[in-house]
Amino acid sequence: MQKELSVAVIGATGAVGTEIVELIERRGWQLKHLLLYGSSRSAGSEIKFKNSSITVKALEMANYEAVDIALFAADSSIAKEWSPNFIETGAFVVDNSSAFRMDRTVPLIIPEINLSAVTSGTRLVANPNCCTIIMLMVVAPLRKFGKIKRIIVSTYQSASGAGRDAMNELELSTKAAVSGQEYQHKVLPHPYAFNLFSHNTPIGEDGYNGEESKVIQETKKILDDPDILVNPTCIRVPVMRAHSESITVEFEGNAPSVAEVQQALSEFPGVKVVDDREANYFPMPIDASGQDDVLVGRIRQDISNPSAISLFCSGDQLLKGAALNAVQIAEAVFGIKLELSPAMSG
Ligand SMILES: NC(=O)c1ccc[n+]([C@@H]2O[C@H](COP(=O)([O-])OP(=O)(O)OC[C@H]3O[C@@H](n4cnc5c(N)ncnc54)[C@H](OP(=O)(O)O)[C@@H]3O)[C@@H](O)[C@H]2O)c1
Repeated sequence: MQKELSVAVIGATGAVGTEIVELIERRGWQLKHLLLYGSSRSAGSEIKFKNSSITVKALEMANYEAVDIALFAADSSIAKEWSPNFIETGAFVVDNSSAFRMDRTVPLIIPEINLSAVTSGTRLVANPNCCTIIMLMVVAPLRKFGKIKRIIVSTYQSASGAGRDAMNELELSTKAAVSGQEYQHKVLPHPYAFNLFSHNTPIGEDGYNGEESKVIQETKKILDDPDILVNPTCIRVPVMRAHSESITVEFEGNAPSVAEVQQALSEFPGVKVVDDREANYFPMPIDASGQDDVLVGRIRQDISNPSAISLFCSGDQLLKGAALNAVQIAEAVFGIKLELSPAMSG
């Protein structure tokens, strides 16, 4: 019989934390306790779980001594301050923030790609950036065709990637715009309704913003390839949920054929090929929302480069780009067997 686990979700009221709680229910984890934590603002609120509800507690009240798995879905400062308490008392931690991603001692994991970087002594795993996960889910399977030299990627990132408050801002500003009313944006740096803008992270000296730098560095770490070249442009678009990415993959030798790429991607767990040229039907965020799989299509030879192929993908960055990936890491480490019920989100 599977061991019953005590699990804590830190940031359970947020966009990612809400999905983690739903996934734990949907995937049938056997639980002794589920402890839900937020800030003092949300302490006392109730979150539905199975046929009941669980009261959210302030993190300051955390009983970390009883916890087997702690899933962090709050910002980096919370992860840095609180994860050592959970680890020291024996918990295994998966962190969704960027706090530990580039720490050499912390594995950065996409289970389908590099689970072998987790060892028996690992107590802390970092979940990669959402764009990195979605991109690598459709790029890593292509390494079987030869060494990848360069990835050029442009992202179309949804509101939910910036959390619960950005989702509210998109909804409220769109309602205001269609009814001809003023809206003062508070969460994102530019008007959001019927607009798009460069990702809302600061630009570094090299001209790349914080999100783009994460995609570059994290790709090298996950693929264990310091030489791979990555050139991202990250854009926020007025889509509620699921990120899309236009990707060109350049090989050192000749590129595989379109049919070979379609076959490799259709065989890869967690990826679904949606590539109907006749019907002009390809991945869309509205189809990817609430789905565990990353959708990929528009697979074509790069007309300007015989060594490259181009493709387009959409993936629910709250699921595979965050909550689902974290939950899958814990499942792999603890040998949790799934008792799946239908998707509840989206
Ligand atoms: N959104 C995505 O697609 C995505 C993807 C990959 C990674 N991430 C990362 O995942 C983390 C969570 O992102 P999110 O989008 O879910 O953010 P969010 O919707 O803004 O939620 C933030 C969560 O953190 C909690 N929190 C804030 N201050 C706290 C405190 N002092 N003590 C305890 N809990 C506190 C909030 O609780 P209250 O309700 O009490 O405020 C809320 O539950 C971030 O590090 C983000 O970078 C997000």
